[in-house]
Amino acid sequence: MSLPEWAPDGVDVTVPNAARVYDYGLGGYHNFAVDREFAEQLISAWPGILQVAHTNRAFLGRVVRRLAAQGVRQFLDIGSGIPTRGNVHEVVQAIDPEARVVYVDIDDVAVSHGQAILAGNAHAAAIGGDLRTPARIIGHERVRALLDFEQPVAVLLVAVLHFLSDEDDPPALVRELTAALAPGSFVAVSHFTAVEDLGQEHEQVTKLYGRTPTTVRTRTPEQVAAILAGLDLIEPGIVPITSWHPDPDDPAENEQRSVLGAVAKKP
Ligand SMILES: C[S@@+](CC[C@H](N)C(=O)[O-])C[C@H]1O[C@@H](n2cnc3c(N)ncnc32)[C@H](O)[C@@H]1O
Repeated sequence: MSLPEWAPDGVDVTVPNAARVYDYGLGGYHNFAVDREFAEQLISAWPGILQVAHTNRAFLGRVVRRLAAQGVRQFLDIGSGIPTRGNVHEVVQAIDPEARVVYVDIDDVAVSHGQAILAGNAHAAAIGGDLRTPARIIGHERVRALLDFEQPVAVLLVAVLHFLSDEDDPPALVRELTAALAPGSFVAVSHFTAVEDLGQEHEQVTKLYGRTPTTVRTRTPEQVAAILAGLDLIEPGIVPITSWHPDPDDPAENEQRSVLGAVAKKP
């Protein structure tokens, strides 16, 4: 099979990949047949999952706009995905063209496409990195070149922590990340959570992901709180993403209980 021109060398097109499956769900085109087939299986198992992807993306946008409005000018977006509409740098650089953004993802397609769309943008970069090795991300030369860790940074962990197992110890990883941040910095998360009346759908989705390299799991609000321990949760705390400062201009958005969202501030 010949690869499209945007596909980086060595990309494995035989196994579905979380970044590309999500891209397909959002209507993007940086995905392969194996990702589309897998996404269609997810959609058959749980038709509501498409709405979840869009709702999660809308949450990310609201978080970034809100933090930018509060004066945050540096963003470290880990598990950033394949750039699509409403990317973090577009939102914040519309407010302040000098605002800094670094995208980090484990997937080569996400990174290479990010690098392509950021070519010529002196204040934003996309790098490969793994949330399970925070020191490498924080110490990366592009991160160091663009972000000033003496000033507040917003770390975005949106729809990525549920790909980490308990053995990966997400609370310890987030502690390590936030230790490097200045007081007044923020951590934003969204996380897949169990919902009683969607038990079957969630189970099927978890099983399907179990056949891929990126397994997925739900966590309870208490487990999400443990991930953010030591930080001050900002209002309204850990809530379904659609209840996190809903956009008054988008009142039609259906309630989404399968994903929790929260933003916390380093004291
Ligand atoms: C569902 S997408 C979320 C994209 C974006 N944050 C959003 O919410 O719109 C999850 C992303 O996390 C990335 N990812 C999964 N595990 C990761 C890890 N250990 N380190 C960095 N990125 C990871 C995947 O490649 C994928 O691009």
